[in-house]
Order: sequence, then structure tokens, then C-alpha cells
Amino acid sequence: MNKTHQLVKSKHPNLQLSIFAVMSQMASEYGAINLSQGFPDFNCSNRLIERVNHYMEKGKNQYAPMPGILKLREALAEKVEELYGAQFHPDTEITITAGATQALYTAITTLIHPGDEVIVFEPAYDAYGPVIEYNAGKPVYINMRYPDYRINWDEVQDAISDKTRMIIINSPHNPTGAVLSPEDIKYLIQIVQGTGIFIVSDEVYEHIIFDDIRHESVARYPELTDRGLIISSFGKTYHTTGWKIGYCLAPEHIMTEFRKLHQFITFAVNTPVQWAFADYIKDDSHYEQLREFYQHKRDLLKNLITGSRFRILPCKGTYFQMVDYEQISQVPDMDFAKQLIREHKIATVPISPFYESARNARHVLRLCFAKKDDTLKKAAEVLCRI
Ligand SMILES: Cc1ncc(COP(=O)(O)O)c(C=O)c1O
Repeated sequence: MNKTHQLVKSKHPNLQLSIFAVMSQMASEYGAINLSQGFPDFNCSNRLIERVNHYMEKGKNQYAPMPGILKLREALAEKVEELYGAQFHPDTEITITAGATQALYTAITTLIHPGDEVIVFEPAYDAYGPVIEYNAGKPVYINMRYPDYRINWDEVQDAISDKTRMIIINSPHNPTGAVLSPEDIKYLIQIVQGTGIFIVSDEVYEHIIFDDIRHESVARYPELTDRGLIISSFGKTYHTTGWKIGYCLAPEHIMTEFRKLHQFITFAVNTPVQWAFADYIKDDSHYEQLREFYQHKRDLLKNLITGSRFRILPCKGTYFQMVDYEQISQVPDMDFAKQLIREHKIATVPISPFYESARNARHVLRLCFAKKDDTLKKAAEVLCRI
């Protein structure tokens, strides 16, 4: 055994490898159709690739400024003002990050002190809880209600204590596909008014929202922007999850602290890709068509598996469809998901890892429909045979 083995004192002895890594690895081992991890199996736009190449050839290959390329921050400021009516100053209130993941890590670490409590809604994207705990904070989990996964705001009010420092919201929501309504935001405003509670708003699926529902960005609500950190990702919107570029918007007094940490986590992020996005996001047509693009895929998958024994749960946004398999099996979701890979060569994601306690998860799986229509048709054939 290595000499230093006993010296490593885990900060997270119970933390497992991310469920996405586990399922994707198993999917490739068994040659399964992969509806597990949330990434497209189709390419991003050729023009975007051409822009990255262009800037690489042009020599934009050295460190970017710490908060990001100014031209990109200016383009984002314009976009956010046009879409949501809020003004964020490119110099002081916008920072480009290595994906939303780094923005989330930095946001939580900037604001959470030992003993602080953070309200997190379950099922929860798996990057929130561990980071809160790394900072010696305490996640306070509140269950969203099956089958439409709405938030009971009375429960939120009851969970607020003098230690509550932050509420993390995520709309459209991974894994459930639920979205926050104006009514939800009204409750949120009432709850935080007059408190010292910050809002981290994970909006990475802001453009993937269906049935003409409006995305309730925190940027629409001046009552929240003063205490809000809005986080989004180019990966989801532009089919470039592997480029790991995202951003955070926050008022200057918060962003100043955020950047103190950001500079020592990564300093700056990929330069030619930032230049390419600065050009590319000026064209609204990409994200304007994205709803329709993914709504088609949601409906295709839904229609194809309607006759199956899976119960299809509501999906208002994101590129995930939740299905209940109670009519097929009563085994826990983790075992059932592994069984599907081994016996039927189809990979999904069990939702128990999105809960602090697997007991709350029920018999539900998450299917990613950011896939070619052909992949979805093949997957549906398999699902209908189960
Ligand atoms: C809700 C949510 N937040 C954040 C992220 C991370 O985004 P990024 O790949 O830009 O780090 C994801 C990715 O799946 C997500 O689903």
C-alpha cells in the first residue's frame, strides 16, 4: 500500500462517482443505446466550428482576460437585457466560467460559510449538495412533489431559519423537466424579502422550454437580481457540452467576491471559443429555434413510447423525459437501470442519486432526448418491448 494512503482524510467519505459517469461507462461497455448522460449525439453548427478555427488561426490562443473576453461579456449583456429586461454591466457583473459547473462551485464557495444552511430542491442536480458540504454548509432538502414536481412554498417558508444563507433554484429543472411559474417566483420573492438570503439560479436550460411557456429568469425580477447569481451554459444552448463554457451574472458587490475565487480556480477560460461565441450569439435565430427543435424530440419520444408500460411524466423543459416503471418492476431504480443496460442494451439514469435519501426516489428513470431522431426511434423500440 502507498505510504501516504492513510494520510488522505476524505472530505467526502460517502461521495460516489457521479451517476452520469457510471451509466455512460456501463453503456459503452455493453454497447447500449445511451439515453443516460445529458449531451447531444449530433454535432454543433459548422459556422460555430468555423469561428473557433478562425480565431485559432488568427492567433487568439493565449490567456483571455480573467473575467472573460469583453466582447463576449458585452454580447451577453445585450442578450440578457433584450430577453429579460435586466442590465448587467459587462465590466463588473458578468464573468465567463469553465461551464456552469465551475460557476456553481464558485458561487456557493464565495457565499457559504461554515454552518450556513442552503435550501435545495430534490431531486437535485448532483453538483449542489457536495459543494455546500465542502464549504461546511448544510444543505436543507425540500422535496418536489411527484408526479409534476411542484414546489410547496409553505414547506420552504417553514424550512427558513436564521442560518439560511442561500436558496438554489433550477428552472427548467434537471432531472424532472418542471419549470417555475410567475406564481412560484412571487412566493420566492415574499420568502426572501427583508432577509440576507442569496439566490443561485441555475438556468442552463433557459432556451429549452416548451408549449410556449415563458422562462422565468431571475433577471426578470428586480426584487431578486440584487441578491441573485444567475448561471447559464453555452453547452446546452449550442450543443457544445464538451467545450465547458458558461457564465455567471451577479450584481457588482457579489461579483467582486466571486472573481476573487474564480481567478484561482481557473483564472480564465478557453480564448478562441469565447471569441467564437462573441460572434455567434449575436444571431438570435439559434436559440429562438431551440424550443421547437427539442419540443419535436420530446413529442417524438413521447408518442413512440405511449403504448409501452412506462408511465410518461410531464416535461415542460430541458431535454429530459422522466418515466415511471412501476407497472414493470418494483426493484430499486439503480438496479433496474443496470438491468436495462445488461439485458436490453439501453442506458437511462436512475433518479435516486438526485436525492439525499434513495427512499424518496420512487420507481422513476430519466431519459435524455437530446439525440438524433433515429436514436430515439431505436430506443423507443427497445422501451416498448420491456
Ligand atoms: C442543471 C444543470 N446545471 C449545471 C450543469 C452543468 O453545466 P456545464 O456542462 O456547463 O458545466 C448541468 C449539466 O448537465 C445541469 O444539468
